[in-house]
Amino acid sequence: MRTILVTGGAGFIGSNFVRMVLVEHPDVRVVNLDKLTYAGNLENLAGYKEHANHVFVKGDICDGKLVAELIETHRIDAIINFAAESHVDRSLVDPGIFIETNVNGTLTLLKAALDKKLERFVQISTDEVYGSLGPQGKFTESTPLSPNSPYSASKASADMLVSAFGHSWGLRYNITRCSNNYGPYQFPEKMIPLMINNALHDKSLPVYGDGLHVRDWLYVYDHCTAVWKVLTEARPGAIYNIGGNNEKPNLEVVRLILQYLKKPESLIGYVKDRPGHDRRYAIDSAQIMTELKWKPSVTFETGLAKTIQWYLDHPDWLEHIVSGQYQEYYKTMYSNR
Ligand code: NAD
Ligand code: TYD
Repeated sequence: MRTILVTGGAGFIGSNFVRMVLVEHPDVRVVNLDKLTYAGNLENLAGYKEHANHVFVKGDICDGKLVAELIETHRIDAIINFAAESHVDRSLVDPGIFIETNVNGTLTLLKAALDKKLERFVQISTDEVYGSLGPQGKFTESTPLSPNSPYSASKASADMLVSAFGHSWGLRYNITRCSNNYGPYQFPEKMIPLMINNALHDKSLPVYGDGLHVRDWLYVYDHCTAVWKVLTEARPGAIYNIGGNNEKPNLEVVRLILQYLKKPESLIGYVKDRPGHDRRYAIDSAQIMTELKWKPSVTFETGLAKTIQWYLDHPDWLEHIVSGQYQEYYKTMYSNR
């Protein structure tokens, strides 16, 4: 049996990944280390927290002693690092915590992985490290890093540390750079669940700028299957872009949400743009598709319908989030736009 240390496994993508592993890979044990920040939520692991192959540990990836103990106690074979501060808008208000978790936290994990001679270290990065594209072209793995926000700068720094550990000391690592994820359990600070929540409450849908910024959307389960393939099949030192081949301007996504929920387009409200807002992301996933035979399982239209339906079917999950500190967050971020 393999034992993996998943960090950030109570967040959006991490919890989807943990669930996928527990359901589809019964020979794997998961130790899940999560600090439970505002974005970490044990309700994301509903039905799986007590699973026989799952150990949840509340703790910080910056805590080197704890990380070393977990690796020894549970005989960890590999680390998959999902833990991060993940929201661009928050990084524009308070960048410090992004450096602490995304850079120092990754460094702590890297030191432990090297010291304990782990089989593999998989760093979950983002396409945002490449910066912004014009109307043409896609990011490939050799596109130079050119991050524009404090969030993407912290993720790019972490990526460079990971490859430096491989180059200097032979750490067996992989880096994945995925496009925008959507799906069940996403915190409603990110665009798709925020718009769904607002539409459900007949509140204005705050579209930044002209709404023509383009993102490449990937259903979260498909990201998880890609990460699994990287963990189990990739050559050490390889970096993989992961995308859905689903480029959409934000406005089109917002309109699809309104159509699905049968709400009027008059709910759309244009608000002041995000400072330094990247205009377009597009991912060339050819390498992971050919080398690891990965491909997305759902189209954007199907994935979005499944996602909206999931939020409709889980009103308690959403209500527990939006009735708390979220109100304060929303007021601070949106009242002066
Ligand atoms: P999220 O914000 O939903 O979850 C992050 C999780 O990390 C939370 O559970 C939080 O409690 C935990 N965490 C934060 N700081 C921690 C610390 N110091 N120690 C331990 N745990 C800590 O994020 P997400 O959207 O699930 O993203 C997961 C990863 O995927 C991140 O590394 C992010 O950069 C990357 N990524 C996200 C997207 C996306 O569209 N959401 C796209 C590409 C890459
Ligand atoms: P987001 O989900 O924050 O992801 P990222 O910034 O990491 O790509 O935002 C996706 C897109 O939606 C981005 O172009 C910003 C835009 N957006 C809005 O128009 N309104 C919003 O309220 C939010 C949160 C995002």
